[in-house]
Amino acid sequence: MSETRVKEYWEHFFEKPKKQYNPYMERLKEYPEYIMYDKDIMDSHKGKWNEYFKNENPIYIEIGSGSGNFAIGMCQKYPNRNHIAMELRFKRLHSSARKSKNYGLNNVLFLRRFGEEITEFVAENEIEGMYINFPDPWEGNEKNRIIQKPLFDTLDKVMKVGGKLFFKTDHDQYYLDTLELLKGIDNYEIVYHTSDLHKSEKAVDNVLTEFEQLFLNKFKKNINYIEIQKIK
Ligand SMILES: C[S@@+](CC[C@H](N)C(=O)[O-])C[C@H]1O[C@@H](n2cnc3c(N)ncnc32)[C@H](O)[C@@H]1O
Repeated sequence: MSETRVKEYWEHFFEKPKKQYNPYMERLKEYPEYIMYDKDIMDSHKGKWNEYFKNENPIYIEIGSGSGNFAIGMCQKYPNRNHIAMELRFKRLHSSARKSKNYGLNNVLFLRRFGEEITEFVAENEIEGMYINFPDPWEGNEKNRIIQKPLFDTLDKVMKVGGKLFFKTDHDQYYLDTLELLKGIDNYEIVYHTSDLHKSEKAVDNVLTEFEQLFLNKFKKNINYIEIQKIK
């Protein structure tokens, strides 16, 4: 009988071994209560994330959570929600977990996983909403953007009817293209949009991300914002 080989740590992240690794890769292990990187473990929680959080509170997903300021701010503001944040970069994940531990949060989890893989570890209707803040606009290569038709096919499966996708961007064309994209997607409706979030009625409730802080303070850039609701 063949025995299952135990995975080398790097195999969680790469196809082939590398000569050198980012030191933060190894350091993800310092925060097992805040960071998950094993795909099989993530997948084993599919349909059972409420059991993982040990409550029945609604679950929100964030794609590309950076250094975690938004996830942490939302978890502090809404302690009766659970927040699963997906990010690829090791140092940003490590920093997110370090801050979450300092604040003693128990409603956040950071996954080292591609946003495109959500259906592998989230079951039908398991989430209440999704946040995408300042994703790469892929200028000149727009087909690579995360906000495209396939994202809505994913939301068709994993998000409850009535749930919302919340999108912030400094990139004016990404904002306009998303408004246009939604005209062709029937079961979703734009329920709010503004090209200047910080001058809008939504400003009071807004939780800042790292990029947002930078664009606002350093570049004095307007921030675009869209709320999209799943209507059937
Ligand atoms: C421009 S940064 C924005 C970070 C943060 N949301 C903010 O507003 O400050 C985009 C982040 O998305 C992450 N990212 C890019 N592609 C991703 C993917 N396919 N899945 C998950 N995260 C991704 C990047 O590593 C990066 O940290």
